[in-house]
Amino acid sequence: MIIADHISKHFNGIEAVKDVSFQVGEGETMVLLGTSGCGKTTTLKMLNRLIEATSGRIEISGRNISEEKPEILRRSIGYVSQNNGLFPHFTVAENIAVVPKLLGWQPGDIQNHTGRWLEQLKLPAHFKSKYPDELSGGQQQRVAIARALIANPPILLLDEPFGALDPVTRASVRKDFAELPVLRETTIVLVTHDVHEALQMGDHICLMDKGSIVQQGKPGDLLLRPVNEFVHAFFGQQLEDISRIYERIRTER
Ligand SMILES: Nc1ncnc2c1ncn2[C@@H]1O[C@H](COP(=O)(O)OP(=O)(O)OP(=O)(O)O)[C@@H](O)[C@H]1O
Ligand SMILES: [Mg+2]
Repeated sequence: MIIADHISKHFNGIEAVKDVSFQVGEGETMVLLGTSGCGKTTTLKMLNRLIEATSGRIEISGRNISEEKPEILRRSIGYVSQNNGLFPHFTVAENIAVVPKLLGWQPGDIQNHTGRWLEQLKLPAHFKSKYPDELSGGQQQRVAIARALIANPPILLLDEPFGALDPVTRASVRKDFAELPVLRETTIVLVTHDVHEALQMGDHICLMDKGSIVQQGKPGDLLLRPVNEFVHAFFGQQLEDISRIYERIRTER
């Protein structure tokens, strides 16, 4: 469904992404994992041409995306940006309706679908007439997810979509999200720096560092067969922190 073939991105001489290659099969969830500044967002944005690759080739559904009009390409790709990207002067309902309107849906259909998505993402129906800045960060992110999903795009790009949520809400929204039936057929690329999220959501993980992919494979490959100390430490550190905290709480009781 998605093939990235030796893609790179330079910003004024800075190599933000270096010679990255991966493939995402239909219905798979691929996670781009790594610390801040390693090139995750840049890689993701090259897939819908919000950023043009400096070199390399990207194919989506067998077509070279550089030959496609960006606005046509983006109709089949739902996108949740890192800062949620909601339009501040649009209500929640108007934000969610952006793509359906472009696609020429009837107002009644837009309303029905909007209601259904708000419900699925556990947002009260009366939020429809609110503006983004009247919502919490986590609620805004859920509206952004609804907006990206409403037209049922075959591909979904998610940049830290649960980033503004506290750990408890995050775990529950992530679980609800992962269980949405529509997502079983959707091909997803998810950006995160959270090892737990990557292990829970990813069929395939690309661990990035300084613009390059250090290791990619199934979650178990990275966890059990790290190719180097960096990969080992990246997973080990975050997982060990949790078990150490758990152990401390347990012994303090
Ligand atoms: N428009 C730009 N112009 C110049 N440099 C940029 C631009 N966008 C990103 N960069 C640089 O490219 C590198 C990768 O940035 P990117 O946003 O892809 O990182 P990231 O992995 O998404 O980080 P984070 O987890 O903090 O969101 C960084 O060093 C960043 O400063
Ligand atoms: Mg980013």
